[in-house]
Amino acid sequence: MNIVVFGSGAIGSLFGALLAKQNKVVLVGRAPHIKCIQQKGLTINGKTHLTVNVPAVESTKEVFLSADLILLTVKSYDTETASNQVRPLLHDQTMVVSLQNGLDNIEKIEQNIEKKHILAGVTTHGALFSAPGTIIHTGKGKTILGELDGRPSERLNMLISIFNQAGIETQMSIDIKREIWRKAIINSSINPLTAFLGCKNGYLLENPLLEKTVEYVCTESSRIASLKGIIVSPVEMIEKTKEVIRDTAENDSSMLQSIQQGKKTEIESINGVLLRIGTEQKIDTPLNRILFELITSLCLH
Ligand SMILES: NC(=O)c1ccc[n+]([C@@H]2O[C@H](COP(=O)([O-])OP(=O)(O)OC[C@H]3O[C@@H](n4cnc5c(N)ncnc54)[C@H](OP(=O)(O)O)[C@@H]3O)[C@@H](O)[C@H]2O)c1
Repeated sequence: MNIVVFGSGAIGSLFGALLAKQNKVVLVGRAPHIKCIQQKGLTINGKTHLTVNVPAVESTKEVFLSADLILLTVKSYDTETASNQVRPLLHDQTMVVSLQNGLDNIEKIEQNIEKKHILAGVTTHGALFSAPGTIIHTGKGKTILGELDGRPSERLNMLISIFNQAGIETQMSIDIKREIWRKAIINSSINPLTAFLGCKNGYLLENPLLEKTVEYVCTESSRIASLKGIIVSPVEMIEKTKEVIRDTAENDSSMLQSIQQGKKTEIESINGVLLRIGTEQKIDTPLNRILFELITSLCLH
C-alpha cells in the first residue's frame, strides 16, 4: 500500500517506520527531523529498535506517489491546515485516517476533504520525539480503527490487516466516535492536571485530593458525552483513567511536554470542546471550564 504520513513527529514517525517494512511510505514533516531522516534514516528506540530508510519530505508538493492511505498525525490545532495540504494527494479511493487525540479533528478534516475518504482511529501507543531522526517508542499499546458510520467495510479490513502485518496490533470498532470520546474523557483530567501541576502522570494517584479531582473531572466529562449521545459509565471511565495513570505513571503527559516546550497544547480540542458542548446545551461544566482556563492562562505567558 502507498502511505503518506502527514505530520511525522512522534507518533507519525513511529507508525511510518513500522509500516515502511512492507509498504511504500513517505513521511511529511518538518526540518531538521526530515533532513536527518534523509541523511541517516529514521531510528526508533525504546520498546522498538529499528532504523529504516524511508523517503521523507517537507511538503506534499514533493510527494510523487499515488496515496492509498494518508495518516494524519499532526496535533489537533494543525488539523485544518493539514487536511487542506493533503487534499491534492487524494484520488477517488484514497483513505484519510486520523490517529489524533481530540474531539474536533473529524469535523475539521471534513471542511477540506469529502467524508467518503475519512476514517478514524485511536492508539494507546506512546511515542516521544527524542532528537531529529530519532523517536522513542515509550509504550506499546493498541490501535482501533473504524469507519465513521460504523460499517465494517472491506477497506477497513484491509487497513487493519496491513497494520497488524506491520506489528501494530489493531482492532476494528463499529463505534469509533465512542472510542474517540472515551480517550478524550481520559485525557480531559490527566492532561490538564499534570500540565498545570508540572507533575508526572502517577502523581495524580499519589495525592488523595488529586485522585478525587480526577474522579470529579471524569464524571463531568462523561456527563457531557451523554449530551452528544455517547453513553459511557462514569464509574468505568474513572477506573479506565486510573488504569492509564498507573500504566503511564512515570510519563510526562503530552500537554505537560507542550507547556514545558512553550508550544501550543491540545486543550481546545479536549476540554475546550467539552466546555463548548456544555455551553451550547446550557449545562454547567465548572471543572472543564477551570481546567481549560488554567491551561489557556499558562499559554498566554
Ligand atoms: N505521541 C504520542 O504518544 C501520541 C499517542 C497517541 C495519540 N497521539 C496524538 O497524535 C497527534 C500527534 O501527536 P505527536 O505527539 O506525534 O505530535 P508531534 O510530535 O508534535 O508531531 C506532529 C508533527 O507534525 C508537524 N507538522 C504540523 N503541521 C505540519 C505541516 N503543515 N507540514 C509538515 N509537518 C507538520 C509538527 O511540526 P511542528 O511542531 O514544528 O509544527 C510535528 O513535528 C496528537 O493529536 C496526539 O494527541 C500522540
